[in-house]
Amino acid sequence: MSITITRLSALGCEVCGVDFSEPLLAEERAAIETALERQLVVVARGQRLSDPELLAFSRNFGELDPPGPNPYGEPFNKDFPEINVISNVIENGRAIGGLGAGEAAWHADMTYIEVPPKCAILHALEIPADGGGNTYFADMYAAYEALPQALKAAIEGKSTVHDASRNSAGLLRKGYAEVSDVRKTAGARHPLVRTDRATGRRSLFLGRRHNSYVVGLDVCESEALLDALWACATEPQFTMCHRWQVGDVVMWNNRAVLHRRDPFDASARRIMHRTQIKGVERIA
Ligand code: SIN
Repeated sequence: MSITITRLSALGCEVCGVDFSEPLLAEERAAIETALERQLVVVARGQRLSDPELLAFSRNFGELDPPGPNPYGEPFNKDFPEINVISNVIENGRAIGGLGAGEAAWHADMTYIEVPPKCAILHALEIPADGGGNTYFADMYAAYEALPQALKAAIEGKSTVHDASRNSAGLLRKGYAEVSDVRKTAGARHPLVRTDRATGRRSLFLGRRHNSYVVGLDVCESEALLDALWACATEPQFTMCHRWQVGDVVMWNNRAVLHRRDPFDASARRIMHRTQIKGVERIA
């Protein structure tokens, strides 16, 4: 069987004809990388990867970036600490993974570091039978292109601070204090507009809304500008929805999309294993 890549909508594509548990051919790797650059979200169904297989597959796309600090202060997956576990399951009184069963608000991953990961890879091991927990992606190239001219002008040359203190479920990470003044938010600063080095295309680079601050503005001005940007960036026409099945692998271009997750029934089991690939350049 040979690789096929089918567009799902303006955003996202599905890869068929490749078994991710086997070593990839050079042309398969290249095709997936191109799809990540162009379609930004790559979906493959029916994959069953052990942790070592998920790690080997992920390494095709660069060096692994270990998960950021979680609220518990130690890796969820002690045998393979490069793998993050996203789960609501409690075993022996302890969460086996992060983010619980609630909504995860729109965000990009680990943008609070100086060189954020370029790609994330999420593999579904257990999924609630009755649905819920859909994951949505928003295209930040399309969002930037569609911004009103006044908003484009307002953000030109500006940077924001990307909050390191809370995870996507809103929990305080171990070692961080509550932010009481967004001008003092701990985390990296990145330009609001990112230009892709290879293509010259411009995209919004927002990270996450909570505790964000536009450097140099009054707090009120910063809040108003960020609210306007986030409202535009997450309009439904820029988004796609992924409804999970066991065995799915979903990869996304973390520099060019935001993602969020619906809540799901807390009494159902949902277990996802996740890797991410180090970025190789600062956001510019
Ligand atoms: C995440 O925000 O990385 C989690 C996405 C998901 O659980 O589907």
